[in-house]
Amino acid sequence: MQIITAPMAGITDYSFRKILYEFSPDIIFTEMVDVNALKYSNQRTQDEILRKAGNEAVQIFGNKNEDFLEAVKLLIERGFDHIDINLGCPVKKIIRAGKGSALLLESDFVKELLLKLKKEFRNDIKLSMKIRTGYKNFSDPEYYVKLAEEYGLFQICIHGRTQEQLYSGQADWNIIKKMKQKHKNVKIIGNGDLTDLKTIKEKTDSAKPDGIMLARGLLGNPWLLKEAKDYFKTGVFHESEVGREEIKNTLIKHINYCIEDKGEIRANLDMRKHIFWYLKEFENIEKIKNDIIKTKTIKDVLKYIVNNV
Ligand SMILES: Cc1cc2nc3c(=O)[nH]c(=O)nc-3n(C[C@H](O)[C@H](O)[C@H](O)COP(=O)(O)O)c2cc1C
Repeated sequence: MQIITAPMAGITDYSFRKILYEFSPDIIFTEMVDVNALKYSNQRTQDEILRKAGNEAVQIFGNKNEDFLEAVKLLIERGFDHIDINLGCPVKKIIRAGKGSALLLESDFVKELLLKLKKEFRNDIKLSMKIRTGYKNFSDPEYYVKLAEEYGLFQICIHGRTQEQLYSGQADWNIIKKMKQKHKNVKIIGNGDLTDLKTIKEKTDSAKPDGIMLARGLLGNPWLLKEAKDYFKTGVFHESEVGREEIKNTLIKHINYCIEDKGEIRANLDMRKHIFWYLKEFENIEKIKNDIIKTKTIKDVLKYIVNNV
């Protein structure tokens, strides 16, 4: 079973990926990258967006063939060898621009894009897609699974929700199961609601995907990767308790990576959500929250965590 960490915009930046690497998943994804932004950004912005913590797979989104092609060329030059096309982002601003899950409605466009990418970069990259199960009058994920087969894609990840569901409601794992049963030759990655080991076991026992992609379950809990890895390696179901010190030390490390990557001012903005995710199970979380909210700088936050958490 392949264990993959999901692309999450605003979350899976360099610092979080550094943390994720410590748990050795099979694939770690970047945040999604706008092919247009790559084209027009300067070297410094590109360096920041594409800073590697290891051999990440990069996910791209866009709406023009030529932009995708240019972006892939640049990404190969930057040393990426696994490139994923985003056909799942449900955010209004993105779909209004005809990108992300809006492309699910543009099956001919996607087909042509795959054809061009395969023709141009045949052996240079692992190419994959990430889709949702539906959007407006599109409700045929099998179309894309067949495309994945036809074009020999490295994998296709199915997030078992429609665009309209955004991130609520349940992911439909029956669709993932059906796709795997019907398309044995395509590497199918299941995604949605895998937030604890019990659910991971239940969904994979039934759907039997080739891999799983973990997303929100990793927020403040990268240890879920270890639980999942151990489970698939040994077959033994064991939910591990993570000690307070380990959580605290991982959080401190994460904050320091973020400062190293983005500087103190941006780390101060970006890290606060992570802090509360890491500490959510602490019995005195309300007091911790109230105290941290009052801190001004990320160095104050660090000092508080080191001395008081
Ligand atoms: C904050 C956030 C950002 C996300 N960004 C991306 C993204 O950049 N690309 C993508 O394909 N999916 C993105 N997703 C979707 C996740 O990769 C995943 O498909 C989704 O959260 C379902 O899995 P889950 O129920 O286990 O969280 C994002 C999800 C969240 C919560």
